[in-house]
Amino acid sequence: MRVVSGIQPTGNLHLGNYLGAIRNWVRMQDDMAQGSQCLFFLADLHAISMPHDPAELRKGTLEMAAALVACGIDPQRSVLFNQAQVPAHAELQWLLSGTARMGWLNRMTQWKDKAGKNREGQSVALFGYPVLQAADVLLYQATHVPVGEDQKQHLELARDIAQKFNNDFASESTPVFTLPDAIVPQQAARIMSLRDGMAKMSKSDPSEMSRINLADDADTIMKKVKKAKTDPEPLPSEQAGLGGRPEALNLVTIYSALSDSSIDQVLADHGGQGFGSFKPALGELLVETLRPISARFTDLMTDREALDAILARGASQAREIGTPTLDAAYRALGLVRG
Ligand code: TYM
Repeated sequence: MRVVSGIQPTGNLHLGNYLGAIRNWVRMQDDMAQGSQCLFFLADLHAISMPHDPAELRKGTLEMAAALVACGIDPQRSVLFNQAQVPAHAELQWLLSGTARMGWLNRMTQWKDKAGKNREGQSVALFGYPVLQAADVLLYQATHVPVGEDQKQHLELARDIAQKFNNDFASESTPVFTLPDAIVPQQAARIMSLRDGMAKMSKSDPSEMSRINLADDADTIMKKVKKAKTDPEPLPSEQAGLGGRPEALNLVTIYSALSDSSIDQVLADHGGQGFGSFKPALGELLVETLRPISARFTDLMTDREALDAILARGASQAREIGTPTLDAAYRALGLVRG
């Protein structure tokens, strides 16, 4: 079993990232059997697909590394690194670009959402983004990729690329790539904005009030939860009563994910309550969950050299693990290298 996943180091780690992906990374790391391996990386190469500030990206990369360690990623047990220190990601992307099809990329909802009506004005990197994402996981023969719902389509594309490459350039008995499976959490697959229950919680949302950041202090968390958009009805005692109430559903989903209980259980305990009492309960649960993470984060950020060392060591391990697959891809394509 090999687990591989990544996160863009732009903006703060928020509750959607944490509940949708990072918490699963930590759980998978902690459950790994002997001989299995986890690789987690900061997708800094992906971050240049949108307009960006180089100084912010550098800072964000270190902050995100610290945030992941604060959440429980243990660099002694998992390989933690940033893509820019492992050139094989970019190399394999190019090799896979011969296999990926324009039509496949054109169908990606993230491309459609981000490009909007201005496709011609977008970077080539934004269009080719899912091919780099395929390279990220195929390079390491990933078997399991823990992600939130929004990344499922990119993972399906990675499987299509791997399948076509194997068909076109490898023999059936010795495929070059493993087909990876997306692992999406049952609860919390999609955490929504606190301001709009139909939009996902995202670092690109201009409103800070739309998301809980893992480094937010207790007052900020309570304020954001109290100001979260809701409706005037009390909570129902059964799930069917949340139909057509996306904001209420979102808050209940967050509560259920944080408390590791089902939505039915949360409604059994809180059904009939108005948001005037449910919101403070949710706020406190959030503060309690995030307090130790944010304390560790602040601590880690004081030692820049230690963070650099973690990333350098992880990159060197990742380079070694990826080399045989990259070599096999070059060979399969008939590319002569020394
Ligand atoms: P990114 O940086 O947008 O998000 C990191 C992870 O957090 C999940 N996530 C969410 N889950 C639930 N609710 C939300 N509101 C929410 N927002 C984000 C994402 O699904 C993701 O798992 N392209 C990827 C990074 C990437 C990657 C990879 C992931 C690059 N290469 C290879 C897996 C494998 C991205 O931009 O995620």
